[in-house]
Amino acid sequence: MGRTVYVNGEYLPEEEAKVSVFDRGFLMADAVYEVTSVLGGRLIDFPGHLRRLARSLGELEMARPMDDAAIEAMHRELVARNALVDGMVYMQVTRGAADRDFVYPVGATPTVVAFTQAKPMEDTVGARDGIKVVTMPDIRWGRRDIKTVQLLAPSMCKMAAKKVGKDDAWLVEDGFVTEGTSNNAWIVTKDGRIVTRDLSERILHGITRAAVIEYAAAAQMKVEERAFTVEEAKAAAEAFMTAASAFVTPVVEIDGVALGDGRPGPVARRLRELYLAESKKRAV
Ligand code: PDD
Repeated sequence: MGRTVYVNGEYLPEEEAKVSVFDRGFLMADAVYEVTSVLGGRLIDFPGHLRRLARSLGELEMARPMDDAAIEAMHRELVARNALVDGMVYMQVTRGAADRDFVYPVGATPTVVAFTQAKPMEDTVGARDGIKVVTMPDIRWGRRDIKTVQLLAPSMCKMAAKKVGKDDAWLVEDGFVTEGTSNNAWIVTKDGRIVTRDLSERILHGITRAAVIEYAAAAQMKVEERAFTVEEAKAAAEAFMTAASAFVTPVVEIDGVALGDGRPGPVARRLRELYLAESKKRAV
């Protein structure tokens, strides 16, 4: 059975959902997006995703097409119409359709599309066995804090990792890890410190990252927000990554170097449990 998809105020069968060939999302990647995970039919970390969407739109001087209540109602409607239990809702806002021009068009109507994707979220191979990453240069643009749809660079890096038989790439700039291709990177040092990159224009300000920092602090676990090198990561006791689509997922190997005993570490496992328990309580 096909999905029901949201396009500019309408709920349509997916094969009828269409946007213009002049849409600036299509022509210029002039668009932002959010991915919200769904567990048991409820939206995880939703207020954070709403806040980041508003921020991304603001950074690109794009008008907000709907208020937060309307966005939430639309998400709920999509979950209901698609009988989604576990998976995600993807929402994209583009600047709209206009003659091709590098200058932002005046008065274009934003295009809003959203759809669901059903998939197992909690019991995944990555959560159980951990993932293996390779490091490579971060070839993305300089405003990674804006969640735009220009995803070709991270897609190329992910493919390069797959070609050498690994699961993902950790991206490196000036010797320091920025983040994964679609997730934030974390390490746990041998003396038990949990480290993740500090916020700047160099990384996406992950919603899962922010939640994990909060829940870790509440559990008396301290997180250091600072840059770390590839060498420090390879010498770490454990590592993990966070994303709406992966929650907390252990990283068990970096550039062929196994971390610890090569199995998901206790800190990553504990943070995943804490994150799932707390975010389900707050789900809407
Ligand atoms: N990716 N860093 C990058 C580059 C990302 O693309 C993502 C999310 C994250 C994690 O952010 P959050 O915790 O808010 O999901 C970090 C989404 C899931 C995606 O593109 O599918």
